[in-house]
Amino acid sequence: MNVLITGATGLVGSQIADLFISKGHTVHYLTTRSSAIRTEPNYKGFLWNVKNMTIDSSCIDGVDTIIHLAGESVFQRWTAAAKESIMSSRIDSTQLLVDLLKDNDHTVQQVITASAIGIYPDDQDAEAFKENDIPPYADNYLADVCIAWESIAQQFRETGVQLSIVRIGIVLAAQGGALEQMAQPVKYYAGAGFGNGKMWQSWIAIDDLVGIFYYLSENRLEGVYNGVAPHPVRNRPMMEAIGKAMGKPVFLPNVPKFVMKLMLGEMAAVVLSSQHVSSERIEEAGYQFKYPQLDQALEQYID
Ligand SMILES: NC(=O)c1ccc[n+]([C@@H]2O[C@H](COP(=O)([O-])OP(=O)(O)OC[C@H]3O[C@@H](n4cnc5c(N)ncnc54)[C@H](OP(=O)(O)O)[C@@H]3O)[C@@H](O)[C@H]2O)c1
Repeated sequence: MNVLITGATGLVGSQIADLFISKGHTVHYLTTRSSAIRTEPNYKGFLWNVKNMTIDSSCIDGVDTIIHLAGESVFQRWTAAAKESIMSSRIDSTQLLVDLLKDNDHTVQQVITASAIGIYPDDQDAEAFKENDIPPYADNYLADVCIAWESIAQQFRETGVQLSIVRIGIVLAAQGGALEQMAQPVKYYAGAGFGNGKMWQSWIAIDDLVGIFYYLSENRLEGVYNGVAPHPVRNRPMMEAIGKAMGKPVFLPNVPKFVMKLMLGEMAAVVLSSQHVSSERIEEAGYQFKYPQLDQALEQYID
């Protein structure tokens, strides 16, 4: 397989690239930074500039699968400018790829794009959401980003390729991402839950998320799939499980919602919202999780 990955220099994309290379496939990737360009036999970088809507069209030469992950990080203060970048980096990059396929002869058969579970309603009492349980969508900025992102991705179908979308949950990894942020205060015995601590945290081990992207491409599976583990947990038990795995008990009371909002501004929504999400569809499609339970993932990723 020859795969083109956007966001290949990021947390998820770098591990997806490693997996494809380890299985003998060739990876092309798009980056916004010339310093990140490498040219190796099976790992080759190409430049794009999403703001200027320019792209090196040779990036799709010989490619059969595109994995689209690129987007400005949501883990920053949501100023008006940041919100604009978070949205436009996803919308414009998707449009660039659609136009690339529309305007050029190509061999691409499948596009797999990322989305996020933030699209599901923020509801602490809900049963686990399946892919077709929406609308109604969540009524907040992150959901607006996901809705716009998924909607523009639908144009890929007009280019004759299969479209798959992975709604990614909270990604747990040894370095970087949510787990590192959550573990930081725990290390200093300052760990605590957030708000009422009852928000659902639909997490996924990075190895499983990478495995799902690989599985969808290997089996050419179309449609929307939740990228979450089979056993989501609530926020306070999750923090306590992290404390247990680190040998540093979490005993402090939860940080109240208003303090989170003072500290993080509107971005507090990322940590305070509750998304209870089901992994049933990808399991029914035959994917077997390496880390279905939180304790197994924490044992793997916490030193
Ligand atoms: N990690 C999570 O918990 C999580 C949860 C839900 C959804 N997701 C989504 O999954 C995708 C990958 O997540 P990640 O954690 O791997 O992200 P990440 O580590 O922040 O990497 C994002 C990648 O996007 C590219 N990028 C950043 N800003 C860009 C811009 N303005 N224009 C074009 N490209 C830009 C960067 O590539 P270059 O610097 O090389 O250009 C980078 O490699 C993201 O879209 C994210 O929103 C992640």
